Amino acid sequence: MKFSNSLNVLLLGSGGREHAFARKIAESPSVAKLFIAPGNAGTAQCGTNVDINPNNFGSVKQFVLSNNINLVVVGPEEPLVRGIYDFFCEDSQISNIPVIGPSALGARLEGSKEFAKDFMTRHGIPTARYRSFTKKNVEEAYAFLETLQAPYVLKADGLAAGKGVVIAQTMEEADAALRDMLLDDKFGHGKVVVEDWLEGPEFSFMCFVDRRRVYPMALAQDHKRAYDGDEGPNTGGMGAYSPLPFVTGEDERYALERIMQPVADAMCAEGCPFTGVLYGGLMKTRDGIKVIEFNARFGDPETEVVLPRLKSDIVEIFSAVADGWELEHPLEWHDFSTVGVVLASKGYPGSYAKGAVIEGLDEVDGAVYHMGTASKEGRIVTAGGRVAIVVCAAPTLGEALEKCNREVGKVRCDNLFHRTDIGRKAIK
Ligand code: AMP
Ligand code: GLY
Repeated sequence: MKFSNSLNVLLLGSGGREHAFARKIAESPSVAKLFIAPGNAGTAQCGTNVDINPNNFGSVKQFVLSNNINLVVVGPEEPLVRGIYDFFCEDSQISNIPVIGPSALGARLEGSKEFAKDFMTRHGIPTARYRSFTKKNVEEAYAFLETLQAPYVLKADGLAAGKGVVIAQTMEEADAALRDMLLDDKFGHGKVVVEDWLEGPEFSFMCFVDRRRVYPMALAQDHKRAYDGDEGPNTGGMGAYSPLPFVTGEDERYALERIMQPVADAMCAEGCPFTGVLYGGLMKTRDGIKVIEFNARFGDPETEVVLPRLKSDIVEIFSAVADGWELEHPLEWHDFSTVGVVLASKGYPGSYAKGAVIEGLDEVDGAVYHMGTASKEGRIVTAGGRVAIVVCAAPTLGEALEKCNREVGKVRCDNLFHRTDIGRKAIK
């Protein structure tokens, strides 16, 4: 692909992350046409939505060929883990069209907890001590649990949409989780990783990776629990903010030099170079920074607070990563802070109703990224668990939080709730 002024881009996905991408991609002077498959009511304002399932690679290929697409950007993990990158590389009709994302082998860093943990051990990347078990050695799993102290951390292997991790407070809960994961095989992979419980603030470190070249992005912190004060069940993420006052420049250097760069190098050494975006879910523990998980893609909702701070042209970055040339400058960032508050359907992450009318979105002084919405008879209605995220920018985090809380109040809908303390802990 040549970095030119007339690129046609296909973006795969349909969440808030993709809406934030779509807006950023559409801003690039090098983009002629932007298509989003399948997109949502928000992405439709930045480009053309097309009704294609990103996991249906045959349909993606047809669309790419008939619309002269020059670049494919992948949002969600599933097409990556299923091998969309490899599908393009192996088909001579489309092998010249770059896909931003890793190969299926690269995506194992996210797709298999066991692979990720073994990989980290092989390469001395700091992470919690662990052992993995299958149905065959379930007795050993119980015995291993007995050697640990509560809380117990159990992770089902494979993609589980954020639901595969159990932090059990008692041995009874740990037993029940083991039964679910191994004996009842609720997650379909029949493998479980049991690891030490770590303590400390978590942060998300996303980097563009082009084999050995690693370009770090601004840091963000997600809020996974449903309710204020980090109470309630785990969700896909109820809000995020950037930058992070509790992570020092030294911490960031350590994370880059001891974690992210060594992962890129080690993937090359193992014969499966990583390209795309590597997401380190890191924790600042008393014993240093450790890896909680890797993702092989942008985070959601981290992307919605990080991309508005990116000054550089994202399409130029994608082109560099896709074509293997080195960017002349490090990525440039705006100094302001961003806070994003997710509006979720009442009941989420459990069951919830759809179809409630949302008003006031265009009154918000800030960005509104759609996550789970639909258009119905000219109105925007709820169509998912996480419905939209309101992102506000201000010179300081405190001001951004205050503004975001005020602006969120302008969104009117009977069936939504949100947190009011996103980023609060970081404000002195
Ligand atoms: P993961 O899907 O691996 O990111 O896990 C989901 C969440 O579980 C993380 O964001 C952490 O809050 C928590 N978690 C996972 N592993 C551990 C661990 N070893 N110690 C403490 N908390 C953990
Ligand atoms: N925000 C966590 C994730 O994207 O997996």
